[in-house]
Amino acid sequence: MPETFDLLALGGDGIGPEVTGCALKVVEKACDSDIRVDITEELLHGACYEKTGTFLKETTLDHAKRADAVLVGATGGPQWDDVRPAGEEAMSDGLMQLRMELDAYAGLRPARAIACLEPLTPYRPGLTGGADVLVLREMTGGNFFAAERGVDRSPEAPRRGYDLGVYDEHQIARLAHVGFRLAGRRRRHLVSADKSNVMEMHVLWREVVSEVALEYPEITLEHLYADNASYQLARDPRRFDVIMADNLFGDMLSDQAGVIVASLGMLPSACLTGLPGDTGRVCGIFEPVHGSAPDITGKGIANPIGAILSAAMMFDYAFGRADIARNIEGAVTAALEGGARTPDLGGRLTSAAVTDAILAQLDS
Ligand code: NAI
Ligand code: MG
Repeated sequence: MPETFDLLALGGDGIGPEVTGCALKVVEKACDSDIRVDITEELLHGACYEKTGTFLKETTLDHAKRADAVLVGATGGPQWDDVRPAGEEAMSDGLMQLRMELDAYAGLRPARAIACLEPLTPYRPGLTGGADVLVLREMTGGNFFAAERGVDRSPEAPRRGYDLGVYDEHQIARLAHVGFRLAGRRRRHLVSADKSNVMEMHVLWREVVSEVALEYPEITLEHLYADNASYQLARDPRRFDVIMADNLFGDMLSDQAGVIVASLGMLPSACLTGLPGDTGRVCGIFEPVHGSAPDITGKGIANPIGAILSAAMMFDYAFGRADIARNIEGAVTAALEGGARTPDLGGRLTSAAVTDAILAQLDS
């Protein structure tokens, strides 16, 4: 009897449904006789708003809470930027609401250099070879989830916009534990990026990360100011192993890490509710790092690899099948080596053709 997993797939907006469709084909192909994945597709954010008047349906949220994994494409678009569905908070976004409701606080965003793509990066030959960075981004706190936020528009005073960033020690500590444990499975080096030189929130950040470090004497912890971390990452990506940062800096550093792999469309991510033990599983939202890319929506040329590698992370973390994850990653690399590339990688293939090349590699 195969073990059966319940997967909720939410394509979302723009290129989201396009790349999610590609990833689902890979999910079906990658399963062996020991695993079955039952897929349910639902709407999220703008696509959901157009049909139902809300960014995230109650029934979808309920399903997400009991599912073994949630696979997301991307959300957002200019047409919904000013939409505030009745009864929802000031800044409403279906995906951010989902992350918050599931408490998926640990955002794992790996960027691993792929040798055949190095000529497409802005780096000199030899600078990215072997680079393997994991950005760990806090996903449910900080400025992005500020309770105190708004734009004051009083006729007597200049307009005033604010998002009051807050982290409590528990939020920082639980992320730091994930960071140290991840580093322990890798090259045992953890960089914590903050701005404790100018921000009180980050004074506490550095203090708590240093306290948690005492429990992990085998890991080398390095504190860097976030601006310097960004500079060092651009200069020499190979010096990094795991980089942990708050929601805002983690967002920026993980996009920046995409340069190592030549395109933002290559980057996968997992938003987890913790870190599984060596054999365990954990719930999570698996999604490419990129957004809905309105500029290329509907053209069939979006790079599906970020979504496909997110599905690989799902097999690893949510289904406890690291072997299948490695198979998918191997098939992606082999397809790229064989020249399967969308325009963002200098190629001419469609999303569907690149997916077919990956499926063919899984077959062989
Ligand atoms: P974006 O990531 O959608 O696009 C940035 C650039 O990268 C664009 O030139 C786009 O064409 C390209 N790109 C992105 N993914 C690609 C792929 N798979 N293949 C080929 N090229 C790709 O970011 P942008 O333009 O800042 O935001 C567009 C919308 O997406 C906004 O509404 C934003 O709020 C939303 N967004 C959503 C995210 C999510 O759902 N997790 C993350 C970031 C932005
Ligand atoms: Mg981003």
